[in-house]
Amino acid sequence: MSNPYQQAYDKSLKDPEGFWGEAAKDVHWYKTWDKVLDGSNKPFYRWFVGAETNTCYNAIDRHVAAGRGQQAAIIYDSPVTNTKSTITYDQLKDRVSRLAGALAALGVVKGDRVLLYMPMVPEAVEGMLAVARLGAIHSVVFGGFAPSELATRINDAKPKVILSASCGIEGSRVIAYKPMLDQAIELSEHKPGNVIMLQRAQAKAELIAGRDLDWNEAMAAAKPAECVPVKATDPLYILYTSGTTGQPKGVVRDNGGHMVALIWSMKYVYNIKPGEVFWAASDVGWVVGHSYICYAPLLNGSTTVVYEGKPVGTPDAGAFWRMISEHKIASLFTAPTAFRAIKREDPNAELLKNYDLGNFRALFLAGERSDPDTINWAVTNLKVPVVDHWWQTETGWAIAANCLGLHEFPIKPGSPTKPVPGWGLEVLDESHQPCEAGKTGSLVVRLPLPPGALLTLWNADQRCIDSYYSEFPGCYKTADAGMIDEDGYAYVMSRTDDIINVAGHRLSTGGMEEVLASHPDVAECAVIGVADQLKGQLPLGFVCLKAGVTKSDEQVIKEVVQLVREKIGPVAAFKTCTVVKRLPKTRSGKILRGTMQKIADNQDFKMPATIDDPAILDEIEESLVLVGYSKGRTEAVE
Ligand code: COA
Ligand code: AMP
Repeated sequence: MSNPYQQAYDKSLKDPEGFWGEAAKDVHWYKTWDKVLDGSNKPFYRWFVGAETNTCYNAIDRHVAAGRGQQAAIIYDSPVTNTKSTITYDQLKDRVSRLAGALAALGVVKGDRVLLYMPMVPEAVEGMLAVARLGAIHSVVFGGFAPSELATRINDAKPKVILSASCGIEGSRVIAYKPMLDQAIELSEHKPGNVIMLQRAQAKAELIAGRDLDWNEAMAAAKPAECVPVKATDPLYILYTSGTTGQPKGVVRDNGGHMVALIWSMKYVYNIKPGEVFWAASDVGWVVGHSYICYAPLLNGSTTVVYEGKPVGTPDAGAFWRMISEHKIASLFTAPTAFRAIKREDPNAELLKNYDLGNFRALFLAGERSDPDTINWAVTNLKVPVVDHWWQTETGWAIAANCLGLHEFPIKPGSPTKPVPGWGLEVLDESHQPCEAGKTGSLVVRLPLPPGALLTLWNADQRCIDSYYSEFPGCYKTADAGMIDEDGYAYVMSRTDDIINVAGHRLSTGGMEEVLASHPDVAECAVIGVADQLKGQLPLGFVCLKAGVTKSDEQVIKEVVQLVREKIGPVAAFKTCTVVKRLPKTRSGKILRGTMQKIADNQDFKMPATIDDPAILDEIEESLVLVGYSKGRTEAVE
C-alpha cells in the first residue's frame, strides 16, 4: 500500500532530478544550477552543476536575515568543566565571521585546507563554519587519535592553518592536545603556516613564536569576513576514515548536494522543525558530528547541542536524561554503545524518574548494529520511537532508516527499517545477481548516489573507484553484508572487509596489524574484532614472535599494546593480545581471521576446506581461553 514514504522513495529513484531539484528549493543559491545531475563522468556523478552557494551563509546568515538572530544556535553543556552557555544565531554570525577574518588574515582563501584538532567545544563547530565561510576546505581529526595518525592526515590534506585547543577533557582526565599536535607537525613533511590555539583554563599550551597564535587574540584583531560564493560541486570538507590499510581514506564532500540532503533529512528522517533542539551526542571528529552536530541542525534553523561529557560518569548514568530535560531536546542521536553503558549502570532506568522528558519525541541510533536488547530497553523506558538507522562516513547521511517525517513503520529490532529515499539499496550475491528476500549478500547502492554522498577520496580518484565502484559495476559497494526481508526491511549484519566498530568508532584491523608487524620481535600477526557487551566490538591481537626472541611473552604484549596506543591512539582500545606459535592459514597462505573470530566469540564454524593444518585451531583456542575468550568450542561442523 502506498504511503508518503513509498511515494517519496519511488519518485526519488524514478526521477532523481525532479526529486532533488524540488528539495534544493530549501537552500539559498547565489546562482541556480545548469543541471541537477551530471552523469557525464561516471562513476563520479555531480549534483547541482553550475550552481553557486555558501554553506556557512545557509547555516547562519540566512537565518539571521529571516529573523532568527535571537534564537539559540548552539547550546554548550560541559559537565567536565561545569560550564553551560548558549550562542544565538546573531552571536554565532559574529563569532564565525571574526574567526573567518582571522583565517583570511593568515592567507586562507577558497580551496585552501584548514585542519581542526579540537575537543567538544563550540569553537570546534565555529571553526568548521569559518572555514566554510571562506570557501576553504576543513579536515577535522578526532581528538582520540595519536600524533602519527594526525601527521598522516596533515601530510595528505596539506593544511595552510591548523585550529586546535590546548586540551581535551576525558571524564576527569585532562588530555593536553598541544604536545600531540607539535609532535604531529614534527613528524609530518608538510608544515602548516600557522596554528590558532584555543587556550583552555585546564591546561595552557606553550605557543611557538611566529607560528602559533592565541585564538582570542586572533579573533579580537580580526575583521569580520563575508561569505565567499563557491560552486555547489566544490569541496566543503575532507574527513579521513579507516580504510583497509593504515592509510586512511579522505572522504570528500561537496557544498551544494550536502546541504540539500541534510536539510531534507532533518525534515523527513528526523522530523525536526526550525527552532527545535536536536542533539547528536557524538564528536565533531566523526561523520555524525559533521552532519548532525554542525551542519544539519544549523542548516535547518534548529538548535544544536555541543556536549562535552560521556553518557556515564559525568557524573552518572542520568546525564543524557538531564540534558534532554534541561535543554528541551526534541530528539537525541547517539551510538548504541552509549545506551549499553547507561543500561549497564542503571538497568532499571531509575535515574530517568528524576527528569521530565516532556519535549522528547524520538531516539536515533547509528554507528554500529543496534542489538535488539538495547532497542527494547530504550523503547520500554523512553516510550518514544527508537530509530536504528544505518549509514557510513562515505554516505554522509542515512542509507536506511525509519523516516519519521514521512511515515512511521513498526520497528523490527535488529533492522534499520527501510532504504531512505535516494538510496537504491540492493542485495547482491557472489555472481552479482539480486538475492531473494531474506537471503544475505553484499549490500550495494545502485548509482547515482543521492546528493550528500562522497564526491571522491582526496587526491585519490582511482582508490575511490577501486574501493567502492569496481566490484559491482553500476553500484556503490557499502562493504556491509546483510539482507532485505519480505517486508522490505533492511538488515546490516557485518562488514565484508577488515573494518571493526569499537564503541561506534570505526577502526581498521589491517591498520593495527601494520603497527604490530612494525615491532622488532614480531614475525607475524593478526588482529580480529571480537564481540564486546559494552563496545559492540573490541580488537584482539595475535602475534608470532621471531626466532631467538628472549623477552617474555608478557613483555612483548605490553610493548605492542603500548605501540598501538602510540601509533593509532587510545581510541583503538587495543588492550588484549596473545602470543601464539603459528597462525591458522589456508594452503595458499591466507590467515583465517574469520574462523579465529568465530572461535573467540564461541560461535559454530565450518572447518575451512582449504585450511593448511586444522590442529592450529586447537592452539588458537587454548590461547584465547587464556586471555578470557572462547569458553571452549561448542560444535565444529565439518
Ligand atoms: N580525546 C582523547 N582521548 C579520547 C577521546 C578524545 N576525544 N575520545 C576517547 N578517548 C580515549 C578515551 O579516554 C579512552 O582512553 P583510555 O583507554 O585511556 O581509557 C579511549 O580513547 C577509548 O575511548 P572510548 O571508546 O570512548 O571508551 P570509554 O571507555 O572512554 O567510554 C563509552 C565508553 C561507551 C561511554 C563511550 O565510548 C561513548 O560515550 N560512546 C558514545 C559513542 C559515540 O560517541 N560514537 C561516535 C559515533 S556516533
Ligand atoms: P562509520 O563510517 O564510522 O559511520 O561506520 C560505518 C559502518 O558502521 C557501516 O559500514 C556499518 O558497518 C556500521 N554501521 C553504522 N550504522 C549501523 C547500523 N545502524 N546498523 C548496522 N551497522 C551500522
